[in-house]
Amino acid sequence: MKKIAIAGFGFMGRMHYGCWGRMRGAKVAAICDSNLAQLKKSSGGNIAGADFSTDFGDARIFDSFDGMLAAGGFDIVDITLPTPLHPAMAEKALAAGYHVLCEKPMALDAKSCDRMLAAASKAKGRFMVAQCLRFWPCYVCLKDLVGKGTYGKVVAADFSRLANAPGWNDGGKSWFLDESKSGGVQLDLHIHDADMINWLFGLPDAVTTLAHRHATGGWTDHAHTLYEYSDKVVTSTVSWAPVGEFGFESGFRVMFERATAVGSTRPSETFTIYPSKGKPFSPRLGKGTGYENEIRWFLSYVNGTAKDGPLTPLDARNSVALVDAERKSARSGRRIHVKGTMPEK
Ligand SMILES: NC(=O)c1ccc[n+]([C@@H]2O[C@H](COP(=O)([O-])OP(=O)(O)OC[C@H]3O[C@@H](n4cnc5c(N)ncnc54)[C@H](O)[C@@H]3O)[C@@H](O)[C@H]2O)c1
Repeated sequence: MKKIAIAGFGFMGRMHYGCWGRMRGAKVAAICDSNLAQLKKSSGGNIAGADFSTDFGDARIFDSFDGMLAAGGFDIVDITLPTPLHPAMAEKALAAGYHVLCEKPMALDAKSCDRMLAAASKAKGRFMVAQCLRFWPCYVCLKDLVGKGTYGKVVAADFSRLANAPGWNDGGKSWFLDESKSGGVQLDLHIHDADMINWLFGLPDAVTTLAHRHATGGWTDHAHTLYEYSDKVVTSTVSWAPVGEFGFESGFRVMFERATAVGSTRPSETFTIYPSKGKPFSPRLGKGTGYENEIRWFLSYVNGTAKDGPLTPLDARNSVALVDAERKSARSGRRIHVKGTMPEK
């Protein structure tokens, strides 16, 4: 039985708590949050239908990360804290000998990720960044189609992710709206698609990003990026600009030589393949959510039954570095070279 300590019990802490509760051979033994009122609050995240249990069983509750770490009594530290805290907390937990699962984005920039890589390389515990799309059934299926070349090569691909700005209706108080804390929409939300592009196609030669800054908020809230590859055109859109009861929407359109694959979360999660010959169809997908699947995989990695997963800490670091390049492009209005500027293996 592996015992889990969850650090940060806001939206993602609750999500992970629910997932750990469904894992065989794992038990949440400790939870910490500097704001204990969070343990009673219902969450305001953007993922519909999330199951937020508030029965903490016999888990011990702490109001400080250091206090929880000092008390011990667990094997895995699951970091679901605000992004600026990821490096320091992951480093402390790794240095104390724990296995660490850390929410995305790994850190605010590649330089901070490098500190985490160094800590992980010295640690006896395992380390993984929770880039959940690499475990989400429709994206796993897409990766399989690209890898196997089932419909030939990819000619073009477009990825999108749009949501109301976090807490847009509470007067802009959310830490997510402070770009120095969340990295803005380009890091916080778009890291999912940047990581997917990195996973499917490798790092691009260069990126060019056009971004719009919100008139009142001062954060970059809408961005389009062009990723240069010699043999295909790849683009993305990310936005916290939607207002009203928009909610959340993400998707992709991938044009292969002999089929087009379309994924969308609106009105509900669908994945359709339009082959060049024959009728459109929905491929059979794996079960579970990306959150459950990543947590299940990490547990088997810690237990030694899984070895090569879909994501290494260096992959997660390079996806942050890709976003660094996109943010640099958005700020400077220049095309930023990417390929060859960082080790990929
Ligand atoms: N994978 C995904 O789809 C996904 C979705 C949402 C958020 N996230 C990521 O998860 C992380 C957390 O986001 P969230 O939405 O849960 O944020 P949140 O604000 O809802 O929760 C963060 C919690 O951490 C607590 N906290 C802050 N400082 C602390 C400290 N020093 N010690 C202990 N507790 C502290 C806060 O009180 C809060 O309860 C972020 O990095 C975010 O980018 C990932």
